[in-house]
Amino acid sequence: MNTGSSVNRQPKNSAAKGTEAQEVEALYRIAQLVGSALDLEKALTEVLRVLHDTLRMERATLVLADETTTRLAIRASYGLSPEEAKRGVYGLGEGIIGKIFQSVSPFVVPDISREPLFLNRTGARARFSKGEISFIGVPVVLLQEPVGVLTVDRLFGPEISFEEDIRFLTVVVTLIAQFLNLHHAIRRRQAHLIEENRFLKAELHNRYSRHNIIGQSKVMQEVFRMIDKVAPTRATVLLLGESGTGKELVARAVHLASPRMDGPFIKINCAALPETLLESELLGHEKGAFTGAVAPKKGRFELADGGTLFLDEIGELPLALQSKLLRVLQEKQFERLGGTKTIKVDVRVIAATNRILVDSVTQGTFRADLFYRLNVVPLVLPPLRERREDIPLLIDHFLRESNKTNKRQVRLSREVLEFLSDYEWPGNVRELQNLIERLVIMADDDCMRMEDLPAYMVAEPEYAQEETTPPCIPLLAPQRSLALKDLERAEVEAALRRNGWIQARAARELGITQRQIGYRLKKYGLRPPDMG
Ligand SMILES: Nc1ncnc2c1ncn2[C@@H]1O[C@H](COP(=O)(O)OP(=O)(O)OP(=O)(O)O)[C@@H](O)[C@H]1O
Ligand SMILES: [Mg+2]
Repeated sequence: MNTGSSVNRQPKNSAAKGTEAQEVEALYRIAQLVGSALDLEKALTEVLRVLHDTLRMERATLVLADETTTRLAIRASYGLSPEEAKRGVYGLGEGIIGKIFQSVSPFVVPDISREPLFLNRTGARARFSKGEISFIGVPVVLLQEPVGVLTVDRLFGPEISFEEDIRFLTVVVTLIAQFLNLHHAIRRRQAHLIEENRFLKAELHNRYSRHNIIGQSKVMQEVFRMIDKVAPTRATVLLLGESGTGKELVARAVHLASPRMDGPFIKINCAALPETLLESELLGHEKGAFTGAVAPKKGRFELADGGTLFLDEIGELPLALQSKLLRVLQEKQFERLGGTKTIKVDVRVIAATNRILVDSVTQGTFRADLFYRLNVVPLVLPPLRERREDIPLLIDHFLRESNKTNKRQVRLSREVLEFLSDYEWPGNVRELQNLIERLVIMADDDCMRMEDLPAYMVAEPEYAQEETTPPCIPLLAPQRSLALKDLERAEVEAALRRNGWIQARAARELGITQRQIGYRLKKYGLRPPDMG
């Protein structure tokens, strides 16, 4: 043991028994703090408080080496103001604390006024006359390496035994070292879990959000598999699905996953232009081809050379243009309007429609030969209501995006989530995306509740219709709806009775959703018999 001037100025005094009891109490209280090792600084501060409370040590500090072991900084203290604690940063060999750390042995300064090594960096001791204070420091050792120093100030008196104090403080630092050990182990485990979590999230994201398309449902997984399969080829893809199901998104994904990804992705909406304009947009024109054609212009086929041409709403293509398109697709060459030069292009075609194209073929509004030419790889995007398991994922995705854009933290209540999972989504993913964006923008606080949903979503469409029955048949309408309501009430009640009043089962039998049956129960005041 080092001592500043003299060791053991006093032999162990008669009050030793009392001190021992206090020490045991202190150790007992410190040991109880082990469980709080998660919050290290708080636990260590508590340890130092115990030292003060039970042994009347005036001030205590614990300095620990930082991670690079270049500096020692106060990590916990008792009796120091926050400013004083902040000042306590030491070089590794600096002052007494640095010395204790480097020599890995305790140090006692019986009277700090006579110790030149004393830096008093924190300035805390200015409040006392230096002559009253002795200082004891012991190293904290973990796995045979010094990791810090515990120091205490005592107002000294005749009863003090430095040896006894050092022996006791050495036990305390052993406990502190165990704290640190446990804390580091928890930290490592936590870091490992955080890393694992990050990895799993990325995996999940990859699996359920390929090509920026979200979907964990079986059908969407199949869509991803098809994209991977067709992307490397030049095959024409026909995307079928209701409005808002993600046809354009998939078309872009096919392009981006194809060897043409660096080439252009050109889109043309076949429903947006009149026939003549559409033809010149597709094939281009030469100067003077028609009134207004003041300069030659490349068509979309030419612009898409080396890339992908996306023919959106192909079902709306006029019959006359259908045959022209078929020729281009088959021969991969064409002439601009008013031109004679044959232009060859290397274009991959992806077409999309929300029409049932086979029906159009049967009705004679879509050429069968063009249909077969386009239908090489059909890809059907199912409506959202048929893949409800994707709804929570999509909500999470759009919520994240909208929150980020609008710098908000909006969350949806469980009730809203359940409602949205059950909703019919006639506008599919687009409707969901727009709704979330609107909710985030309009949100007054950060939790969205049922009352924040737009009225059209919450209203029951059938009854809304009844209420807006045209006024020209005022007498008939109420009677008719009354009769219907009676019928419906009886139907619902019967189904509930047959299914032991289990709403989910009755709903399934009636072919309606749980939300819808819930609504009807409320509307007709239906209750299981035992509830009156
Ligand atoms: N699975 C999905 N994951 C993420 N976003 C999606 C998904 N499906 C659709 N979207 C988004 O929904 C919106 C509508 O999609 P898209 O324009 O591709 O639909 P569409 O089928 O082409 O509709 P329409 O027939 O009306 O043109 C877009 O903003 C798109 O990014
Ligand atoms: Mg579209």
